[in-house]
Amino acid sequence: MIGKFAFWPDQASSVALEVDLLYIFIIVVTVATSLAVYGAIAIFTIKYKRRSEDEIPEQIEGNLPLEIAWSIIPLGIVLVMFAWGIKLFYDLSRAPDEAMNFNVVGKQWMWKVQHPTGKREINELHVPLGQPIKLTITSEDVLHSFFIPAFRTKMDAVPGRYTISWFEPTKPGEYHIFCAEYCGTEHSHMIGRVVVMDPAHYEQWLKTGSANAVVSNETPEVAGARLFQEQRCNTCHMTNGLMAPMLAGVFGSQVTLQGGEIITADENYLRESIVNPQAKIVNGYQPNMPTFQGQVSEDALLQLLAYIKSLSKSEAGAPGAAAAASSVVGTSEAQAATTDNQPAPPEHAAPSTGDPPAVVPESQPRPTEQPAPAAGDQH
Ligand code: CUA
Repeated sequence: MIGKFAFWPDQASSVALEVDLLYIFIIVVTVATSLAVYGAIAIFTIKYKRRSEDEIPEQIEGNLPLEIAWSIIPLGIVLVMFAWGIKLFYDLSRAPDEAMNFNVVGKQWMWKVQHPTGKREINELHVPLGQPIKLTITSEDVLHSFFIPAFRTKMDAVPGRYTISWFEPTKPGEYHIFCAEYCGTEHSHMIGRVVVMDPAHYEQWLKTGSANAVVSNETPEVAGARLFQEQRCNTCHMTNGLMAPMLAGVFGSQVTLQGGEIITADENYLRESIVNPQAKIVNGYQPNMPTFQGQVSEDALLQLLAYIKSLSKSEAGAPGAAAAASSVVGTSEAQAATTDNQPAPPEHAAPSTGDPPAVVPESQPRPTEQPAPAAGDQH
């Protein structure tokens, strides 16, 4: 019934109805309270109007039950808003474990999406019906916001970090995507559509290309494993754990930093450890790693992240991880372009220069001078 009014977008996700109900509840309470307060003011101004110049109104003090009532009742009502709101907030913040992860990168002025299979599309998001979808969102330049009104989800795309949004589409159809954060001249053109398809249809769609979508057989995990080789991460991270922490199982684990602080290795920690490795040094290690800021694109970072996460899943420990990494050596294209299947931007990762990245002392951004024995292989 709610959906019949033109000013409500479709209710097309599992949370849409509850978001609307909470919203309606808040509006009804607010309007009712305002009417009661302003109505009482209007009535009392007439009813208790001063009737003569020397009239002294009756003084009323100390009606304890009344004071308690007008404190407790509104408190109860706002606590309902609080509890309901926070419950919904948690529901919206925590993607179910079985959710499929899609990567979303905002840039002036488009949305780039990568599916779990590796397929990419721009300004469109095709998803299977009834399947929880998790979006890992970031931005290449400025703040954007990924907004799907029909799903009642909106999440900022923040340069330099990951944000998470998720939804479960409950109704096939096409719905708007908007950028909901002013991001420059063409902000209002930064729009797109979500297409909710039945799962079989989606599987079919994954195999076909189109003007807006490019098929790839390289999943983010595989692409990440390839990058891990190309950027020489494996020289330090996959040997013996002496030079740098081993990465198998690191995602989601508790990491002890220098100084004793313990943090959870989540997406944002791993990202920071790649682009700003000096920020948090793992206890027992030297700050040896050079920064990869500017060396790897956002797409590439997401792929590296997918690879590191996949190491956690296997729980195979170091040997399995090393095997996973080496199994893709053959497919390496000897080129660090990370976006080979991508129609759009040319600004991506500079080709690897062949410098060994990880053995440079201190925080030099990029090793230009070689350690003496390696000087011969400059090119
Ligand atoms: Cu992107 Cu507004």
